[in-house]
Amino acid sequence: MKTRGRLSVSHLVSDNDLTPADVALILKTAVAMKKAHRAGRDKPVLRGKVLGMIFQKSSTRTRVSFEVAMLHLGGSALYLSANDLQLGRGETIADTARVLSRYVDGIMARTYAHSDVEALARFGSVPVINGLTDLLHPCQILADLLTIHERRGLLKGRRLAYVGDGNNVAHSLMIGCAKAGMQCVIGAPRGYHPRPEILVQAEEAAAKTGGSVEVVVDPREAAEGADVLYTDVWASMGQEKEHEARKKILAPYQLNAALVARARKDCLVMHCLPAHRGEEITDEVVDGTHSVVWDQAENRLHAQKAVLALLMGGDVPLS
Ligand code: CP
Ligand code: NVA
Repeated sequence: MKTRGRLSVSHLVSDNDLTPADVALILKTAVAMKKAHRAGRDKPVLRGKVLGMIFQKSSTRTRVSFEVAMLHLGGSALYLSANDLQLGRGETIADTARVLSRYVDGIMARTYAHSDVEALARFGSVPVINGLTDLLHPCQILADLLTIHERRGLLKGRRLAYVGDGNNVAHSLMIGCAKAGMQCVIGAPRGYHPRPEILVQAEEAAAKTGGSVEVVVDPREAAEGADVLYTDVWASMGQEKEHEARKKILAPYQLNAALVARARKDCLVMHCLPAHRGEEITDEVVDGTHSVVWDQAENRLHAQKAVLALLMGGDVPLS
């Protein structure tokens, strides 16, 4: 069977670029690709294609999962540290995009400024994928939705509570969950709430799918009755100097056994990783029976294979 499905977009820069149908198609393709991979039947739908991967920040999961994804699909990937590119010496993002587009078939980029990934998409002529910016982390949330779907089936109506810093992962969760018709509640201290424009985007998406999005200050209120409890580091990459101050302010938002007790008995515990054990999440919880963090990490591979194939390939064989 082949899907003739196509995404409505030619880049994945923001979760908000995807329609609910796009999200559903990516998840369906990812499920099929995961099954095929487990059966030893990966299809080389990107044979001979090359993905350029620009990194301004560190990475374990994103770097390795994208590189392995390209190998599984018959292509290859180039790791391009921004410091080693002429970017580090002042060549513009626009010129870098124009030049790389003459060599590679797709670009994945992890940057500080979100506008850098937007500029790659605007000035390049190949698909661009956001591998995390200060604003968003869309590939992570596609893997997260795949993980919840595997464990709980229908996403619509599920309640996901994110506790901690209203950061890039929280932003993408708000929009991604809304696109999937889920109820997303963010529990974050004042001053660490998600950006208002992201809340507006998530609310607009939720209004179309029957989902909901809410921001509260009390982490216990957020966790109440949740199907999924999610957290992320208190100081993201680039915020290292604020780490000590953030540890004090965000301490009440730790994902620990007391918070898990407020959620549903069968709740899933999620973290995009890397975790700062003993800070935003306890060892007991990250290693506990509710935790699906290793599935999440694995699903980066499968979800991204779907994204790569749908953006850079032609028709994607589903079996
Ligand atoms: N979750 C995630 O993006 O991990 P890396 O920073 O290791 O890529
Ligand atoms: N919020 C974290 C996510 C890391 C995957 C950061 O930006 O560092």
